[in-house]
Amino acid sequence: MMSSEKSPFDLTGRRIVIAGAAGGIGSATAKLCAQQGATLVLVDIAGKDRIRERVGAELADRSDIHSLDTGSRADVTALAKQTGCVYGLIDMAAIAPHDDWMAEDWEESLDRVIRANVKGPINLTRAFLPGMMEAGEGRIVLCGSVAGWMGGLRTGPHYAFAKGGIHSFVRWLANKAAPCNVLVNGIAPGPVETAMTEGKGYDTSLYPLKRMAKPEEIAATAVFLCGAGSGYASGAIFDINGATHFH
Ligand SMILES: NC(=O)c1ccc[n+]([C@@H]2O[C@H](COP(=O)([O-])OP(=O)(O)OC[C@H]3O[C@@H](n4cnc5c(N)ncnc54)[C@H](O)[C@@H]3O)[C@@H](O)[C@H]2O)c1
Repeated sequence: MMSSEKSPFDLTGRRIVIAGAAGGIGSATAKLCAQQGATLVLVDIAGKDRIRERVGAELADRSDIHSLDTGSRADVTALAKQTGCVYGLIDMAAIAPHDDWMAEDWEESLDRVIRANVKGPINLTRAFLPGMMEAGEGRIVLCGSVAGWMGGLRTGPHYAFAKGGIHSFVRWLANKAAPCNVLVNGIAPGPVETAMTEGKGYDTSLYPLKRMAKPEEIAATAVFLCGAGSGYASGAIFDINGATHFH
């Protein structure tokens, strides 16, 4: 329930796990969640130093930081055991290789995408959901993409396949978790200025707003989805795509 005195975005006293915290959107999400009062568990395969570099030393020092591959069930389970129950889980970890699916060695790329973009969200939610259900409250935010709706602006088939899967997984999970007051939603960003898109030939003159999104403009929705103001949202995919796609 939303208290009339608190901001609908307030996260004071909430502990939130953010995966992909060294990334463009993940690090912006970490900073915004911290601004709203959350305490954070930050994880990324890129390592602790990289997370620290991206979120800043001050926030890193008061967060619990882990170098971790979310594609490893064993490592994610160990993290959840160590961390205990958390209020929120935001997964911004993913990869988007730009390669040729007809190439002989493409299977390796497909496996890497499945590991990060499919097994990662499954491992994280499988590890952290039981604690939330037991506590009788919780928030999960997964990251889809405009590619999950329309195949993508410039991304490959493995990425589009995985992101479309996230959209349906959000609904599956929302249905399972709602009776325990755990709300599950997804965000489907359009093109965002991060390492994932840098130098990949995105042409902003083609987009209605003539620019890509800033990472903070995606992060703000993740914060909203963990706050009291979104207390009746579950099973939704929030399109933050600057009018690049309607469905
Ligand atoms: N940038 C865009 O245009 C765009 C558009 C739509 C959706 N998205 C989605 O937004 C989310 C954030 O992407 P971003 O743009 O910030 O990209 P990014 O490359 O800046 O960040 C992704 C982060 O995920 C981490 N990561 C990758 N695999 C991992 C693993 N197995 N375990 C732990 N960490 C791992 C990377 O090290 C990196 O720090 C992703 O889900 C991405 O698919 C991005």
